[in-house]
Amino acid sequence: MASQKFVKELKRTHYCGQLSVDVVGQKVVLMGWVNTRRDHGSLIFIDLRDREGIVQVVLDPKKAETASAKDLRGEFVLALEGIVRKRPDGMKNAKIKTGEIEIEATRCEILNESAVPPFQIDDPNVGEVLRLKYRYLDLRSPVLQKSLMVRHQVLQLVRKFLSENHFVEVETPILYKSTPEGARDYLVPSRVNPGTFYALPQSPQTLKQLLMIANFDRYFQIARCFRDEDLRADRQPEFSQIDIEMSFIDVEDIIEINEKLLRTIWKEVKGIDVGSIPRMTYQEAMDRYGSDKPDTRFGMEIKDLGSIVQGSGFKVFDDTLSRGGMIRGIPVPTGATFSRAQLDKLTDMAKKAGAKGLVWIKWDAENVTSSVSKFFSPEKLKEMMVATGAKQGDATLVVADDFDVMCAALNSLRLHLGRELKQVDHSQYRFLWVTDFPLLEYSPDEKRWVARHHPFTSPQDQSYDDLLNQNEKKYGKMLAKAYDLVCNGYEMGGGSIRIYRNEIQQAMFKVLGMSPEETQHKFGFFLEALRYGTPPHGGIAWGLDRLVMLLCQTDAIREVIAFPKTAKATDLMADCPSEVHRDQLVEVGIRLSPQAEKHLEDLHKSDHNS
Ligand code: AMO
Ligand code: AMP
Repeated sequence: MASQKFVKELKRTHYCGQLSVDVVGQKVVLMGWVNTRRDHGSLIFIDLRDREGIVQVVLDPKKAETASAKDLRGEFVLALEGIVRKRPDGMKNAKIKTGEIEIEATRCEILNESAVPPFQIDDPNVGEVLRLKYRYLDLRSPVLQKSLMVRHQVLQLVRKFLSENHFVEVETPILYKSTPEGARDYLVPSRVNPGTFYALPQSPQTLKQLLMIANFDRYFQIARCFRDEDLRADRQPEFSQIDIEMSFIDVEDIIEINEKLLRTIWKEVKGIDVGSIPRMTYQEAMDRYGSDKPDTRFGMEIKDLGSIVQGSGFKVFDDTLSRGGMIRGIPVPTGATFSRAQLDKLTDMAKKAGAKGLVWIKWDAENVTSSVSKFFSPEKLKEMMVATGAKQGDATLVVADDFDVMCAALNSLRLHLGRELKQVDHSQYRFLWVTDFPLLEYSPDEKRWVARHHPFTSPQDQSYDDLLNQNEKKYGKMLAKAYDLVCNGYEMGGGSIRIYRNEIQQAMFKVLGMSPEETQHKFGFFLEALRYGTPPHGGIAWGLDRLVMLLCQTDAIREVIAFPKTAKATDLMADCPSEVHRDQLVEVGIRLSPQAEKHLEDLHKSDHNS
């Protein structure tokens, strides 16, 4: 084919997006896709796109070497030779990087045609379902090209930084055993050992600890993790971690090296100097923001009103206080202008977060109004507002409930209103270490204590004996040597110093309600390993996808993953998960349940009808 000959003869000299006035007059060879085409009869203009950008090309269809211009359509692949020239005055396009120049084509070869694409590549109005189905086309868009380039850059920086700091990159298995990180496992049936299953790792947690026992001292891995959990805008069932573990260290060492890594990334990718990163205990974060991953780009902090409203006669408040609950509120700048409908919507939002209601107080030019003015004098209402930091023209929102519910409700109102009222400066990055997490949490659903981070996390020194002696009265108060790295309201990473003594690890499994048999079955190998000279160690894992999201300033994790899954954990392009042949099921010793059979039947019906 002629096109192949052309590829052999001519090699790309430049990327489209790299051309500038510096190369005016030069002959260049470009390879790329037709982004747009405008036919002016005697001349045809195209925008040629490759991974560095686009450039305008002018083709004369009357000349033999560029006659194919007549046939060009969107997304055709071209090899193109031409001379760079300055665009005439008045024809310059300041919107694109190459807007001062254009290419006068001297040869144009169609390397391949394209079917009519289902959407224009960078059209922002195309629905996500269609874009995911044709992900390879969507990936041609500048936004996705950019985010995957940033991801690549971050990966290179991380590898370089960690290697230079004596970390060893070790790959750990994907076909493995359950590692508890709080989600459900993805299971893989074994054909060779019917009835048994691998679990895909939720993280390489036990493996990286085993590498510390194995004397690797400083480990890292760009680790693929799998978690079958409810998906959100910042969660995928399959995601990547920058996974780090170190021996002979304490919390400060982990924080120090990770801050250095963070500073390197932000300097190199964004040109931003991140100074030293502030710290806040878990308790302070909850008290001030109602969240363990606070967005500290704006104020509207939570304030306690318990002492002001005490003994008011308002039953909701009195009852809450006598139960040991909290009455706390947030200021809402300019909130005095809120309509009844707006306040009702905010009340619904608080209820969705678990609160039973929402008290509002508004202070406009005239006076103070409130949903509880029956119970409080205007002076008292004003006092409550002032205590939250609100002033004339603002509002205060108050929730009375148990600590957790109050925090959840005020956090969701704060985040919503912060955004709505433009309190958030989106150009900023606000980092924070959240430290001193609780070690354990009581799960009312499971009626047992669960590890707040994971079962391998060490308690703080003062709690060792209580853990070892299983002093249940203290469980709720024990703190962990655990820390999260938070940025703009996202949990970017988290880790802990680990338990490294066998008897403490055993005690921990007991505290979590595991029988000796279950412990042996799930973690026997790990407990055994802890007996053979385990060094003190600890580590962290960064969510790589979230890190890249923050660098790319997007709220959608799908924008930083080449082939992401939908909120229902499906891949719309390859159509998976999908049914497998019955023989394959027999081979791995699996028979489908009646519910699964019914689901497949329904699927077949809907396929048939569509
Ligand atoms: P953790 O479970 O906190 O800790 O995970 C570490 C980081 O991984 C990211 N992350 C996710 N990103 C995208 N989609 C998900 N579904 C998802 N789940 C978690 C977050 C999070 O901060 N083994 C421990 C780490 C350690 O103790 O060293 C662990 O996995 O950014
Ligand atoms: P009621 O007396 O039930 O009409 O409630 C008066 C106001 O208190 C309404 O604005 C309710 O939304 C609000 N309210 C009720 N329960 C709570 C609560 N637990 N916390 C905050 N406000 C509440």
